[in-house]
Amino acid sequence: MILRLFAALCLTLFAHAAPAQETVALKTVAWKTGREAQAIERRIEALLKQMTLEEKVGQLHLSGRGEGFNAARIREGRMGGVMNFVVPQEVADVQKAVRESRLKIPLIIGLDAVHGFSTYFPLPLGQASTWNPELIEQAAYWTGREAGAAGINWTFAPMVDVSRDPRWGRVLEGAGEDAYLGSVVATARTRGYQRGGVATTVKHFVGYGAGEAGRDYNSTWIPTSQLFDLYLPPFKASFDAGSMTAMAAFNALNGVPTTAHRDLLTGLLRQTWGFKGFVVSDFGSITELRLHGIAKDDAEAARKALLAGIDMDMMGDVYDKHLAGEVKAGRVPMKALDEAVRRVLRVKFHLGLFERPDVDPAAAPALMQTQEAREVARRAAREGTILLKNANETLPIAPSVKRLVVIGAMAVPEAERVWTDPAGLGRRAIQSLPDALKERIGAGVELVYEPAFTKNCGTEFADKDAAVRAAAASDLVIAMLGEDCEFMGEAASRTKLGLPGVQQELLEALVATGKPVVLVLATGRPLVLTWADEHVAAIVQTFHGGTEGRAALAEILTGEANPSGRTPMSFPRSVGQIPVYYDHLPTGRPQKIRQRYESIYMDEKNEPLYPFGFGLSYSRFAYANPRVDRARVATNGIAEVTVDVTNTGARDGQEVVQLYIRQPVATRSRPVRELKGFSKIALKAGETRSVRFRLEAAKLGYHDDAGRYVVEPGRFEIYLGGSSLADAKTAIELVKP
Ligand code: NOJ
Repeated sequence: MILRLFAALCLTLFAHAAPAQETVALKTVAWKTGREAQAIERRIEALLKQMTLEEKVGQLHLSGRGEGFNAARIREGRMGGVMNFVVPQEVADVQKAVRESRLKIPLIIGLDAVHGFSTYFPLPLGQASTWNPELIEQAAYWTGREAGAAGINWTFAPMVDVSRDPRWGRVLEGAGEDAYLGSVVATARTRGYQRGGVATTVKHFVGYGAGEAGRDYNSTWIPTSQLFDLYLPPFKASFDAGSMTAMAAFNALNGVPTTAHRDLLTGLLRQTWGFKGFVVSDFGSITELRLHGIAKDDAEAARKALLAGIDMDMMGDVYDKHLAGEVKAGRVPMKALDEAVRRVLRVKFHLGLFERPDVDPAAAPALMQTQEAREVARRAAREGTILLKNANETLPIAPSVKRLVVIGAMAVPEAERVWTDPAGLGRRAIQSLPDALKERIGAGVELVYEPAFTKNCGTEFADKDAAVRAAAASDLVIAMLGEDCEFMGEAASRTKLGLPGVQQELLEALVATGKPVVLVLATGRPLVLTWADEHVAAIVQTFHGGTEGRAALAEILTGEANPSGRTPMSFPRSVGQIPVYYDHLPTGRPQKIRQRYESIYMDEKNEPLYPFGFGLSYSRFAYANPRVDRARVATNGIAEVTVDVTNTGARDGQEVVQLYIRQPVATRSRPVRELKGFSKIALKAGETRSVRFRLEAAKLGYHDDAGRYVVEPGRFEIYLGGSSLADAKTAIELVKP
């Protein structure tokens, strides 16, 4: 946890991260409390009384732009929400249809504003790589602001699915492999979006990131203790930060499709956690209950989903077609329907939709890609860039480099990954990497650009020979390669994690020229980089940097900025190691001398290629004097842990100071390390700073097989350092109060 005690310091360090000046009136959304909340409950009941059965069902029906969309259903009061509208005039049109309906209940208008709307920020995994929650919050804030200005009031984000499986294409939407980092990021993103004016949908509840064998939509098997310790905490963090809605997952969890999982959606979420908002299904996942084999037809699927706790049907039309009939037949009690409608109306009231004016299409364009938003995008791209290798200080580009070649179709903006393209809102120019570099290198340096591929997927050569010739004639090669197009994202599971297409062939040809090669990666997941790590001079990892991505990259390559990104997931050496993650349990046969009867592979190391929390800098950081303010701490007490961190390099830089714990002896086997705190600090060359963490004993426990949380007294080792290999050590003893 970033220390509260330390907040003042962080604020100074990140003074430049303070929210940029407001340019338009803010529609911050948050749960209202006290009298206001009570008044809302009265308004809900009054409205509910006026509604027909069809109008009630209508509130649970979420339909989308495109073929089959019928605005007449809005006028009839038979649609509660719409999705995928990105053009402000079209949003205005559906809002107008609401005013022509009997009860004029505003629509909730949803969109996957996942990492930007008009200004694109790095992919969420790239944002997590910044390890800078303030910055992540701002990226979500500006996404919310822009989407809100186009009339959107609900985003299908953040995705908080923890995943240890880079074969899964959707790791790019999350914050990586760790529950703690994932929770910090979930909090930041939830706050940011809702501060920016859109309600969040924390998703996918739950376990979607653990699909067997990394295959999308696949079943998950998660023991209760792990569910509570690993997969649920980021959801809890997002609800605690005020997330107004949640999305159920596609997968079955331990044999029960989450879309019909009453224990989860009603038991845990509503009864235990007290969640008052609504749960939306994933796209068509109610009708998929038939395919999961738990409903014989759509009517039964609708019934099971509603009774389990799914309030809104996304794009399935199943509630629309069958719920009224199920109620009339007495199979779904009116009480259950009313409760779902209440939850939807509650969110609409708390969001202030009944009072919000319709979108103003004329005003929207001016609110897109503002200077402030682009600055945040630049900082996020800069701080999310991870330097994985830098042999012989290849980077930053040395003054001796007189001929530079940039290779790869990804180096130009046409390749930028965007989620939604809000047509008509005037996209501004995005700089290419060659142009951004030209602005920064001396006039005497010649820069040549060769795309090498026909498009950014790297599946087909445009002119490989020209690229290799240019490399051979250069002093330094910058090859921007990676994954794009169909190779990442939803439904993009892969069993091979090399560079897609013919990119590896090109990389090997470039290395064969004997010129130093800097491999810049724009990917949606950690790839297997074992060959590259052995052969290229430097590796720079970005997770598609967004609108300002290439400019930020040029800053890093030229040394204008010092890299400070850290891996949010372990990078495997080979696919066969997956899942490979830092907080694994010890075994009875640990790796010691690599003899046969140890828990090792015959043909591969145990360790990942790059561990969790890792990233190089152009500076070096040294850790000294790890210490605690008390040796014995009550299980309900707090320890202060301090370490002195020095920038021993010649440049100013940022370090991510990480704190890990281990309980070596407990009732259950405990992980070899667990992240429990981090703080990103800026240190001038030569500067030393004492970094202090506030370690709450109550947060050092774990869940048992029944889902009960226990904090066990005993010794806790504490490790401090710049990655999960942190080796500055101290310890505390937890004792009963
Ligand atoms: C399916 C995805 O799983 C979900 O995350 C997304 O929000 C919906 N499609 C809507 O686009």
